[in-house]
Amino acid sequence: MPFPEERPRRLRRTPELRRLVRETTLEPRHMVWPLFFHAGLAEPRPILSMPGVSQWPLAMAAERAREAQSLGLGGVILFGLPERKDARGLVGLDVNGPVPTAVRAMKDAVPSLLVMTDVCVDEYTDHGHCGVLDPVTHEVDNDATVEILAQMAVVHAQAGADVVAPSDMMDGRVAAIRKSLDHANMQHACILSYAVKYASAFYGPFRDAADCAPKFGDRSGYQMDPGNAREARRELALDIAEGADMLMVKPALPYLDVIRDVRTQTHLPLCAYNVSGEYSMLHAAAERGMIDLERAMMETLTSIRRAGADFLLTYHAPHAAKVLGA
Ligand code: PBG
Repeated sequence: MPFPEERPRRLRRTPELRRLVRETTLEPRHMVWPLFFHAGLAEPRPILSMPGVSQWPLAMAAERAREAQSLGLGGVILFGLPERKDARGLVGLDVNGPVPTAVRAMKDAVPSLLVMTDVCVDEYTDHGHCGVLDPVTHEVDNDATVEILAQMAVVHAQAGADVVAPSDMMDGRVAAIRKSLDHANMQHACILSYAVKYASAFYGPFRDAADCAPKFGDRSGYQMDPGNAREARRELALDIAEGADMLMVKPALPYLDVIRDVRTQTHLPLCAYNVSGEYSMLHAAAERGMIDLERAMMETLTSIRRAGADFLLTYHAPHAAKVLGA
């Protein structure tokens, strides 16, 4: 029955009709808030390339936990900046390092807060790569890195993290992490795998925030090529087989097609990381009067849910939760 009987606009006439037939929703519980904790700070340090985002001193972890809870967010994911770095990122295994310390403080303050941790050595290595380097080739040594990651996941879980999230893209790390968690009696700890992570220009501001820009080369030897979509299914299948509980696609906006595709490939919860560059470009455009920040933010976050993500990691989380009425 074509026009004039068919009129899609009928369902758009009033806010009540639009609300009734809206297919995709965004709620505070769909958003996980990434937070940076710096071991050497006494005051918050704003990150200039990410308006509204700061590195936090450990003494403010409890306050951030209460804020996340009062906003009704899905949870938080923690990144750490240590006082000293080394070639192997071993400071990342220190039980008194910034991430385990922040996890304990947040869980003490708000036991019900869902706390995730990023598991990767790039925040702790002096060269900024996501792994240990082979002394001869200077390439990232996969298997040596996996051993460190498996230990780091246990340290985070023992501090109280509900979910550990490896972001390194080493082969075999999900299985190794599962094995070491189970061996340490941490069978309950969930693994959220950054399964499909591209070598992206949109991580630029994060590397300021986490002080982890590689000192030489780039991450194309371990992160995925932006041209590849079939390879996403391969990465996904491997991480599912290795025991991942939840899966991630990262970044989000330039890869909405990949989110949609991998959604059809698994029944596991799927999330997407709305990364630093995606966040900063909205703020930059809004500061120049080019777009309305709140509308662009809500549209962006909705688009990622519509593509198929169950939840999102996003720096917009506290602002968006307030827009939603939290
Ligand atoms: C690596 C890691 C990165 C991000 C999260 N975990 C940086 C990278 O791979 O270079 C980027 C997140 C963002 O840009 O918001 N530990």
